[in-house]
Amino acid sequence: EDGKKELYYQINKEAAIFYLKAFCQTSNPGLTYMLKRGIQPVTLKKFGIGYADGQWDSLYRHFMDKKVDVKLLQELGLVSESKGRYYDKFRNRVMFPIINTRGKVIGFGGRAIDDASPKYLNSPESPVFLKKNNLYGLNLSRQDISKENCAILVEGYMDVISLYQSGIRHVGASLGTALTESQAKMLRRYTKNVILSYDADSAGQAAALRGIDILFKEDCRPKVLHVTDGKDPDEFVKKHGKEAFKTLVDNALGFVDYKFSMLRQRYNLDSYEESVDFLKEAAAVLRSLSPIEADVYIKKLASEIKISENAIRLEINGNTTQ
Ligand code: GTP
Ligand code: MN
Ligand code: MN
Ligand code: MN
Ligand code: MN
Repeated sequence: EDGKKELYYQINKEAAIFYLKAFCQTSNPGLTYMLKRGIQPVTLKKFGIGYADGQWDSLYRHFMDKKVDVKLLQELGLVSESKGRYYDKFRNRVMFPIINTRGKVIGFGGRAIDDASPKYLNSPESPVFLKKNNLYGLNLSRQDISKENCAILVEGYMDVISLYQSGIRHVGASLGTALTESQAKMLRRYTKNVILSYDADSAGQAAALRGIDILFKEDCRPKVLHVTDGKDPDEFVKKHGKEAFKTLVDNALGFVDYKFSMLRQRYNLDSYEESVDFLKEAAAVLRSLSPIEADVYIKKLASEIKISENAIRLEINGNTTQ
C-alpha cells in the first residue's frame, strides 16, 4: 500500500522535474509569463514552478522512454486517452507543483498562458491527492506560521507566491475549493489565528463567511481582510508593497465584527422592522460566543441600534429555548 504510494510520488516528482526543465529553457512562454507577472527567478525556484509545453504528448513520451505504466499516469491525471491515443493533460500552461508538508509532490495546478479555458486546470483527486486535506504553500510556510503565530489564507496560487515574495511568508491557499474542516484542523496545529484574505468580490465575501464558521468550529480565532485596491492580494501587494499589506493585516476585522458588518449591509438600521431582523441575526452570532466575549458586542450593538442591552440579552437567551 505505502510502496504503491511511493511510486505515485516518484512519478509526480519526475513530472515536476520535466516541467521545471522546460521552464528553465531560454524564452519559453511559461517563464516569460511569470516574469511579466512580476515573479522573480529566486521565487520561481522556491516554488518549483514549471512549464508544460504546447505539444500533445511530450510528457507521455518522456514516461514511455522510462517504461512507466500509462495506467499510473492516467490515475494521476497527467495523461488521458482518446480513441486509443494518449495525450498530455497539461499543455501550454505554467505548472504549480502542489507539495505536502512531507515534501511529496501530490498534484499540480496549471495556469493557461493564453486565454485557454479553463484558466486553471488542477490534478484530479488520486491515491496521493485529496484536495480537502492539503493547503497550497504550507510546505514552505508552516514554520513562518508558527513563528508569527498567524496564518493568512488566500484563494489562489498567485496570491500565495506574491505575498511570499514580498516577505509575507505565513500564507497558504485552499486548493480551488472552499476551506474544509480538515484544512482548518491542519492550520490549528500551527496557530489559532487565521486571517482570511479572499478576493475582493462577492464570491470572496461569501467564502470568508463560510470560512469563519469552519475555523471557529476547529477552535481558531478567524479574522477577515479584503484588499482595498485590486482584485486580490496578489494585485494589491504588487502595487502597494509589503508594508501596506501589513497594515491591512493589522486592521483585519475580528470575525464577529466582520459578520456584523456583512449584516449591516443587508439591513437598513433606520427602519424599525429591519433593525429587529438585524438584531435577531446578530443575536444568533452572539449565541455562539462565551458570555464574556458576547458582553463586549452586546454593549456595542445596544448603543448602535439604540436598544437596551437587556433586550439583546433576552433575544440571545430566549431563542435557545424555542
Ligand atoms: P490569476 O488570474 O492567475 O491571478 O488567478 P487568480 O488566482 O486570481 O484566479 P481566481 O481568483 O479566479 O481563482 C482563485 C483560485 O481558484 C485559483 O488559484 C485556482 O486555484 C482556482 N481556480 C480559478 N479558476 C479556476 C478554473 O477555471 N478551474 C479550476 N479548477 N480552478 C480554478
Ligand atoms: Mn506536452
Ligand atoms: Mn476569485
Ligand atoms: Mn489573481
Ligand atoms: Mn483572484
